[in-house]
Amino acid sequence: MKTAIVYYSKHHGNTLKLLEAIKAADEVTLIDVTKDPQADVSGYDRIGFASGIYYSNVAKQILKYAEEHLPEGKEVFFIGTCGNNSVSAQKTFFKALREITDGKKCKYLNEYICLGYDTYGPFKLVGGIAKGHPTEDEISASVSFYGNL
Ligand SMILES: Cc1cc2nc3c(=O)[nH]c(=O)nc-3n(C[C@H](O)[C@H](O)[C@H](O)COP(=O)(O)O)c2cc1C
Repeated sequence: MKTAIVYYSKHHGNTLKLLEAIKAADEVTLIDVTKDPQADVSGYDRIGFASGIYYSNVAKQILKYAEEHLPEGKEVFFIGTCGNNSVSAQKTFFKALREITDGKKCKYLNEYICLGYDTYGPFKLVGGIAKGHPTEDEISASVSFYGNL
């Protein structure tokens, strides 16, 4: 199953830590959406989208990419890191992305979300939240998630 993950990871590289571990364990192509915003993924069977969570959503660059370049009918999955992973907060994270992938008749497989060190805005004043995240366990869990897709 040929797989590509289109990602955006700018705050602390938290999301990229998961992806690098996945790439070390499995066959996958990583595409940084900021460097290759028009990447052609038509030759892949499965497309992952990975992003830090910004303002309760994935990066707008990811949404734009999915809207403009995700081919119809692919299998898709989502990976994210966030400062607050409460169940209620998580509900919104992939909502807009899922609407786009559903609109393109893509088959949703699963999603993985974990904490990522967050020093945004006022959190910087207290040294940040979710320090030390993603942990080794969270990184391993993302590798298992990918392996079990
Ligand atoms: C501008 C900005 C907005 C953020 N908004 C949220 C948010 O709404 N909810 C949340 O849980 N975390 C939020 N965070 C924290 C990030 O999601 C978290 O630190 C994530 O791990 C960043 O991923 P990255 O290092 O891969 O970019 C925000 C961070 C930044 C910089």
